[in-house]
Amino acid sequence: MASPDPEKHPLIDGGNAALPTLRRRFSSPLRLLAYLFVFLAVGLVVFSRIQTTSCRGSVLDASFSPNAVTAAKHFDHGIVELERATAKPSSHGIQSRSPTDTPADTATPTTATTATAMATVLENFEVAQPVLMPYGPADSDGSPGLDGGAPPGLCTVLLMRHDFAWSYGSPFVGNYTPPSCKFNRVVLNFTVVSYGRQFDRLALMYFGDTEVWRTSTAEPTVPPGIRWVYLKDTTEYLYFWRSPQTVIFDLGNLIDDKYTGIFNTTLTATFFHSDVATDAAPPSDLIIPISARQGANKAVSQFTLPQQNATNTISFPRNARRAVFSLSTCGQASEEFWWSNVLESDVYAFNATAGELPGYSPFREVQVLIDGQLAGVEWPFPVIFTGGVSPGLHRPIASTEAFDLKEHQIDITAFLPLLCDGNPHTFTIVVAGLDYDNDLTPGGGESWYVTGKIFVWLDDDPASITTGSAPAIHAPAPALSIARSLLQTANGTNETLVYDTAVQRSLLVTARVVSQAAAGDVSWSQTLSYTNRGVVSAFGYNQLNDILIRGTDEANGPTHYRSAYTYPLFANQTYTVAAQGNLTIWGHVRQGKQVETEGASVFATGLEAFPGSAGGKFGYGSAVLDTTKEGTAVFEQTGDGKSSTGWGDARQVFRFAGVSTEGVLGDELGTELYWRSVEAVNGSVVRDEKRVAGKAVGAGAGAAAAAVGRVDTIGKGLFAQVPVRGTREGKGGGV
Ligand SMILES: *[C@@H]1O[C@H](CO)[C@@H](O)[C@H](O)[C@H]1NC(C)=O
Ligand SMILES: *[C@@H]1O[C@H](CO)[C@@H](O)[C@H](O)[C@H]1NC(C)=O
Ligand SMILES: *[C@@H]1O[C@H](CO)[C@@H](O)[C@H](O)[C@H]1NC(C)=O
Ligand SMILES: *[C@@H]1O[C@H](CO)[C@@H](O)[C@H](O)[C@H]1NC(C)=O
Ligand SMILES: *[C@@H]1O[C@H](CO)[C@@H](O)[C@H](O)[C@H]1NC(C)=O
Ligand SMILES: *[C@@H]1O[C@H](CO)[C@@H](O)[C@H](O)[C@H]1NC(C)=O
Ligand SMILES: *[C@@H]1O[C@H](CO)[C@@H](O)[C@H](O)[C@H]1NC(C)=O
Ligand SMILES: *[C@@H]1O[C@H](CO)[C@@H](O)[C@H](O)[C@H]1NC(C)=O
Ligand SMILES: *[C@@H]1O[C@H](CO)[C@@H](O)[C@H](O)[C@H]1NC(C)=O
Repeated sequence: MASPDPEKHPLIDGGNAALPTLRRRFSSPLRLLAYLFVFLAVGLVVFSRIQTTSCRGSVLDASFSPNAVTAAKHFDHGIVELERATAKPSSHGIQSRSPTDTPADTATPTTATTATAMATVLENFEVAQPVLMPYGPADSDGSPGLDGGAPPGLCTVLLMRHDFAWSYGSPFVGNYTPPSCKFNRVVLNFTVVSYGRQFDRLALMYFGDTEVWRTSTAEPTVPPGIRWVYLKDTTEYLYFWRSPQTVIFDLGNLIDDKYTGIFNTTLTATFFHSDVATDAAPPSDLIIPISARQGANKAVSQFTLPQQNATNTISFPRNARRAVFSLSTCGQASEEFWWSNVLESDVYAFNATAGELPGYSPFREVQVLIDGQLAGVEWPFPVIFTGGVSPGLHRPIASTEAFDLKEHQIDITAFLPLLCDGNPHTFTIVVAGLDYDNDLTPGGGESWYVTGKIFVWLDDDPASITTGSAPAIHAPAPALSIARSLLQTANGTNETLVYDTAVQRSLLVTARVVSQAAAGDVSWSQTLSYTNRGVVSAFGYNQLNDILIRGTDEANGPTHYRSAYTYPLFANQTYTVAAQGNLTIWGHVRQGKQVETEGASVFATGLEAFPGSAGGKFGYGSAVLDTTKEGTAVFEQTGDGKSSTGWGDARQVFRFAGVSTEGVLGDELGTELYWRSVEAVNGSVVRDEKRVAGKAVGAGAGAAAAAVGRVDTIGKGLFAQVPVRGTREGKGGGV
């Protein structure tokens, strides 16, 4: 992920946008720990104390000193130097593009190398519902077994075969030409192999100016490394797929003698025709990007907020009958863990002990403005990337959305009478948090990467002009409830901060819309609630957040769409530095996601993979996704910095169901279509159960790997060289 660490993020923003990202504050021991964690992790040989002890201080030559402040300065210095050194692509980076020049993982202890020879590639995966492939439902992690796997003769196009080595500011750029086969559905297959040490990295894929997919990487390990597959239904982009496109795939990576992991990627698209009827919207006739529009320069088109003004002025087609604005957003740098940030008034509460904490509150709202008027909002899902909190939580089970960051849909059909008036209109994306006075204010924390796009469905008659009433927008200010208390020791030192943030808001946009296709009232409504209890204790070294984000979005009119979502997240992190300097980082994370989607979603829900099942017109009226992942991970380091170890476990239950359109009473949870329960301990899958449409099927990728001995080799100590979560400019929770 992009982060304030220039090692992760030296060039990506270019120009003025890079400046804020490179501004750093290393004063915090907690922050130091975060950085430290990365450093230590560089040579971390997990699960093998013997090996780590013999690990020639590779990592450990990473200037960690028991004295936090000294180490911080030391580290700061190192970073600054590296920043300078890496300001331009080095010959090192260029050389390492060649596979034969790939730097050996020199930190690998000999014993581990021996074990490596026997090891298989570690299969990483994100648990998600199946996608429809030409041969039926396919597991999105690419594991075989649902329907016998991919038959030969698929209409598949290679979009990219690329090694991302030194790739900041150098996205892959390729040309796509539509295949000659008949198709109305398209599924991407992103397959990545990597070994060595590397951070998790964010990747954005564009067709020209329009972002079409956002993903992130797993963190590699010693050779033969890791591998993952993600299948992504992209049928909503038929508008693009039907004509030649410039593919711009941006995966900013950095290679030097410490961070050796190259991401070896293959991106294909499989095209097919299917008569499956779904309740989702048919693909739109037009897609309008709201982005920095740098595609013609073969460059990336994200906006970085708040540095940039994410506004486009658009001449809208006059014969539109439906329009949906889709937001793609995520926080980076000090905003990667925005959900654990403190109130602006408390950023210095532990300055004397743990240092400055990232602020602007733990609440974020992404707003879409049309001509300056609020059209809708996104209360983001808190994505935890594969190095987040503690890497032991994510290997090999990536957290929800880490490999597939979902977009948020805002139906703007009610604005069509305005947008179709022939005048240019502005679309703006804003990220807001709570300022010092706890007012919801744009700006604040740095490095939100945002883009938008508008899916537009047109009337048949190009001369038709959509009219109606101006949109009536009822968007009262959100109701905020903030409480905080500070516990001090007798000598006036801040010990514990407890802060509660609660936000509620509702929004309703209505209009009468007259298009060629239909005339009538349309509406867009959102009802949202947010609560977050944060406790920063132990003079700033421990942190706990208990979060619940809920929302219901609904579009009505000629087209119906409804999405009800719940995002619970509990994260408890402790940092201990003992007298001798021994460091322990412990993290417990439980994250859930429940989403019920009904009606004309722009994006495939997964129901299309299960056609012909019992139910109403389309089989199922709504899709229900319900998952919870929970894990605990530890990282330990001796005070002399010579030995480090770490371990962790994680388990996830995922259920995907279809609710009959008949809406049977007591059938709230619907008919189970896909179910998976998977558990990993110390880097190995130890249990993986799966059912598809009620039938047990072969275990997932991880278990397959386990079956060929992964458990044994891992058990002997191969979770090595984990560059644990990148840094964060903030509390150590961000490792
Ligand atoms: C995982 O590793 C830790 C630390 O080495 C160890 O205490 C624990 O027993 C291991 N768990 C399993 C199931 O092997
Ligand atoms: C990446 O994978 C391709 C195909 O497997 C292989 O030919 C190439 O050598 C690999 N590159 C690196 C840097 O490992
Ligand atoms: C995905 O792509 C990889 C690499 O091209 C290939 O090996 C794999 O079979 C594909 N998986 C599916 C399910 O198509
Ligand atoms: C962003 O740009 C728009 C259009 O040029 C302008 O109206 C608006 O004032 C700008 N916003 C900021 C915060 O500069
Ligand atoms: C204690 O916390 C408060 C509120 O964040 C802050 O204003 C104050 O400076 C802190 N006191 C010390 C001694 O750090
Ligand atoms: C926070 O701590 C740093 C380093 O100790 C110090 O330079 C800075 O002045 C402090 N800031 C505040 C607002 O207390
Ligand atoms: C304040 O008291 C705490 C224990 O209650 C102690 O750890 C800390 O060192 C003291 N700080 C100062 C500045 O005296
Ligand atoms: C958070 O973790 C600490 C350290 O393990 C533990 O003492 C505390 O009970 C935990 N809090 C909750 C609410 O789980
Ligand atoms: C703490 O670190 C020292 C080396 O600095 C080491 O000798 C000692 O065993 C460590 N203690 C624990 C509990 O790991």
